[in-house]
Amino acid sequence: MEIAGTVAIISGSAAGIGRATAVALAEAGVRGIVLADLDEVGNGETARVVAEAGAEPMALRIDVTDTADLEQMYAEADARWGRIDIVFNNAGIVSGPPPYPDSSLATIRKVIEIDLIAVIQSSTLAIRYMRERGGGVIVNTASTGALNPLPSDAQYAAAKAGVVHFGTSCSVFAEQFGVRVNSVCPGVTETAILDKTGGGVRPDWLAPILEQIEILTPQDIAAVVLEIVRDDSKAGEHVVVHNRIKDAAA
Ligand SMILES: NC(=O)c1ccc[n+]([C@@H]2O[C@H](COP(=O)([O-])OP(=O)(O)OC[C@H]3O[C@@H](n4cnc5c(N)ncnc54)[C@H](O)[C@@H]3O)[C@@H](O)[C@H]2O)c1
Repeated sequence: MEIAGTVAIISGSAAGIGRATAVALAEAGVRGIVLADLDEVGNGETARVVAEAGAEPMALRIDVTDTADLEQMYAEADARWGRIDIVFNNAGIVSGPPPYPDSSLATIRKVIEIDLIAVIQSSTLAIRYMRERGGGVIVNTASTGALNPLPSDAQYAAAKAGVVHFGTSCSVFAEQFGVRVNSVCPGVTETAILDKTGGGVRPDWLAPILEQIEILTPQDIAAVVLEIVRDDSKAGEHVVVHNRIKDAAA
């Protein structure tokens, strides 16, 4: 898809990967971007930098687990621009301490609701909308945790694996409706979510990992999201963004 002139929706846009992707899309010529997040302060700052980069932002306070919020978001984007071409379902949380299996049942439910159910619900609204208008691209944020064991946050890993397989299951919609659904699987990326993993601090288990790998930046992930958007051959795929192993000799 040619990005210039399109309209995008991004959830989890107030920080990290969502903000970096909003800026990258604006720089690539997106016309309008819905910024959907619970964090109104962070989202306001994203709106400012997106406008500076040349796109028209619409910052909305959205809880992605609230179906009325999601429906209103699609309606408002359509009312303002009359098109929605790109949807990046990216909002996500980790469980935080205590590690699994001591996570509360309420935490397990919340993680699955935000990281999986909300992604499927928003994708569903996007697929139906795009089907009527001849196509579009959806990118959902999974994680390398979808592919590798993550015993400290097994419910997060399960939710992200669900995101990957949801995308795989939607691959036929590319041919049927012109709607491409893909996932991006970031490795460890420098955002605030890493501190939430430890409940406000980086968890002990991360330190030895970070000694071995180069941490990714949110801009690294944004660049891959834009590649997926541009590459019309990608449908039902999950694209992994690997951390490079540090040079042992260095
Ligand atoms: N940072 C990493 O190492 C890493 C690795 C793999 C996958 N991811 C995934 O990347 C995505 C983006 O995370 P990030 O690393 O940028 O972290 P982040 O914490 O900076 O951003 C997550 C955003 O999601 C928003 N959010 C959370 N719950 C929400 C809800 N119910 N409704 C609306 N917005 C909500 C938060 O307010 C926040 O702005 C997440 O899905 C995360 O699981 C991150």
